[in-house]
Amino acid sequence: MTTASLQDNPLLEGLEVRRAPDPCILVIFGASGDLTKRKLFPALYSLAFRRLLPENFAVVGAARSEETDEDFKERMKEAVQENARDDFRDDVWELLADGMRYVPLDFADEQGEDDLARTLTELDQQRGTRGNRVYYLATPPVVFPTVVQAVGKRRAAEGWTRLIIEKPFGHDLASARELQQVIEKYFDEKEVFRIDHYLGKETVQNMLALRFANGIFEPIWNRQFIDHVQITVAETLGIEARADYYERAGAVRDIFQNHLLQLVAITAMEPPIDFTADSVRNEKVKVLRAMHTPGPKSVVRGQYGRGYIEGEEVPAYREEAGVDPQSMTETYVSAKLYVDNWRWADTPFYIRTGKRLARRETTIAIQFKRAPHPPFEELSAERLRPNVLLVHVQPDEGVSLAIGVKVPGQGMTIRTVHMDFLYGGAFRTGLPEAYERLILDAMLGDATLFTRIDEVEEQWSLVDAIVAAWARDRPAFPNYPAGTWGPTGADELMERDGRSWRRR
Ligand code: BG6
Repeated sequence: MTTASLQDNPLLEGLEVRRAPDPCILVIFGASGDLTKRKLFPALYSLAFRRLLPENFAVVGAARSEETDEDFKERMKEAVQENARDDFRDDVWELLADGMRYVPLDFADEQGEDDLARTLTELDQQRGTRGNRVYYLATPPVVFPTVVQAVGKRRAAEGWTRLIIEKPFGHDLASARELQQVIEKYFDEKEVFRIDHYLGKETVQNMLALRFANGIFEPIWNRQFIDHVQITVAETLGIEARADYYERAGAVRDIFQNHLLQLVAITAMEPPIDFTADSVRNEKVKVLRAMHTPGPKSVVRGQYGRGYIEGEEVPAYREEAGVDPQSMTETYVSAKLYVDNWRWADTPFYIRTGKRLARRETTIAIQFKRAPHPPFEELSAERLRPNVLLVHVQPDEGVSLAIGVKVPGQGMTIRTVHMDFLYGGAFRTGLPEAYERLILDAMLGDATLFTRIDEVEEQWSLVDAIVAAWARDRPAFPNYPAGTWGPTGADELMERDGRSWRRR
């Protein structure tokens, strides 16, 4: 952050003033995978760009493929050039590349583990990293237990050790518990950082700021004033090259179980007493516990057929490479949920997510109850829409409030307009990527934006119950064309309650 930019825009004051992490080595397992290339290295580069990494730092990539340090550096350099949000600067890259190593490693192989241990000890000596380790598990989930055991058995005698685990944490409640048992043998919960990258998004954290840094919302943030909540995670993307994973996951495990339920928890939680990991997560888990399983009529699943995305014809899900032509995997799911507590009883939370939908949009819409008795004659119900507080998680990050105002002129005609706050306009700076925040927080030992095991378990309990009910019937898939807003059943879910999904 330059002084000049602060003078230009005083809103930026206070930004990026945080304590520096301890010296440490970040070890990335699964370093030849897509996540490392698209997200992790670009995030590390942006942290280096802002001088947020510790001065004594090193990063080790570990994966099955044979590769030299130099090849690895070259590949990651290209990845950064392609995917980082900041301009590429040789001096910044060199700083990072200087402490980069690569270790070929088969995950169940002692030889690889020895090589890794030797590299880490050497780096401690060369770079003063004092035995501190962050292990990032970005491998396919089936090898999580093997990797956890391997690093757990060889914890360094000095320094701290932390474990970042990518999602999915298990495939259902039982497998999540099995993985947790392996972790517990070697690690304390305080050392475990389970990623849900939505929590690293600025706009998701801003939901906490909006609710708990402003006095005006709390009194109306409840069943008395709120008619319902709509949360949408819509993507135009298909499954890309991830058929293997997606066929087993489906929308319910890929996004509903984690990102969507976390967004519900953040919207519905009580104010935490402070912003520490346990206080925040204690409140979130209470929400997850208070959600009861929706009945079969309150859940709709879908799968996309052929259609058009931005004018281009795209194949049906069943025609994607690697997908079973008879696949019953859902690419869309919506549900009506209730949070059974004093704040929210009887207030529906309608949530939906899908691939190949009409537009990319993640929003949280708080729809308030209508004005009880509008005294204006010329008013049509259509013109006076209820107030909506709309949090744009992405894109066009910001918050907008829909309010009714008088149209200038004679009479008393009312229209709905939007009061908008846009991040881009107010701060005139790009938003950090979620992974920048999360990697840094793990290095700092701050688990506030990571999911605790009890949250994960609650999320799986709900999903397991939904999936169990699905075993009883076979919907006629595909049931929505790519490029639309999902199956008609999802509209009916709303219409039955006299409501409709937001389209804009
Ligand atoms: C991931 C899912 O967790 O989130 C992907 O596995 C999805 O299927 C992605 O595309 C969406 O993340 P974002 O940050 O682009 O909204």
